[in-house]
Amino acid sequence: MGREGFFITLEGGDGSGKTTVLGRVAAYLQNRSMPYLITREPGGIEIAEKIRSIILDPAHTAMDARTEALLYAASRSQHLAEVVEPALKEGLTVLCDRFVDSSLVYQGYARGLGIDEVWAINRFAIGNRMPDLTFYLDVDPEVGLARIAANQEREVNRLDLESLAFHQMVREGYQLVVKAYPERIVVLDANRPIHMVEQDIVRILEERVLKGF
Ligand code: TYD
Repeated sequence: MGREGFFITLEGGDGSGKTTVLGRVAAYLQNRSMPYLITREPGGIEIAEKIRSIILDPAHTAMDARTEALLYAASRSQHLAEVVEPALKEGLTVLCDRFVDSSLVYQGYARGLGIDEVWAINRFAIGNRMPDLTFYLDVDPEVGLARIAANQEREVNRLDLESLAFHQMVREGYQLVVKAYPERIVVLDANRPIHMVEQDIVRILEERVLKGF
């Protein structure tokens, strides 16, 4: 059996350019003839999709924040078992749009459950599997929201502005998580034009691939 693939995750707030960058990383891996898989939770996995639909059901206004965090962890565990682990074992490089850091930040910090508490349940959900490398696209929420508004050809509305405080919390949360994992997480200034972010990512990938991560 050959070597396990590399596990790369992408994190960032709204309007950070995560989706665009994801395509660029895929193109890089393709050019390098590195077999890869791009995925995101729940990733079309039936059990994980069902769990996520419970979280997202608008009728579930009574859902407790802890329940939500546990469901995210459960969905993650299933996606890992059915998609990520088998692919890594086959030697594919797996690129996942959001992973455990999203829970640490959104549930642990922004929703106030505590980063350590959310880490504890996720530790159980993911076992020893952590990303080899995580790109965090750091964008000022005002820049991010303005980009979204521009894409949708509309003004930033009241709702966006109300959510600004939440996005600020998300950014603060990511900054804490980055401090906790300085080796694993590479921070990219995503306030710049997205092609510059992509250039940085390709350069870093090139270094890491040559080093074998
Ligand atoms: P997603 O559909 O990935 O949208 P995008 O990445 O384009 O922003 O994420 C939807 C929301 O789910 C996003 O606001 C973050 C949130 N989320 C959590 O709160 N916890 C998690 O563990 C994950 C994976 C996502």
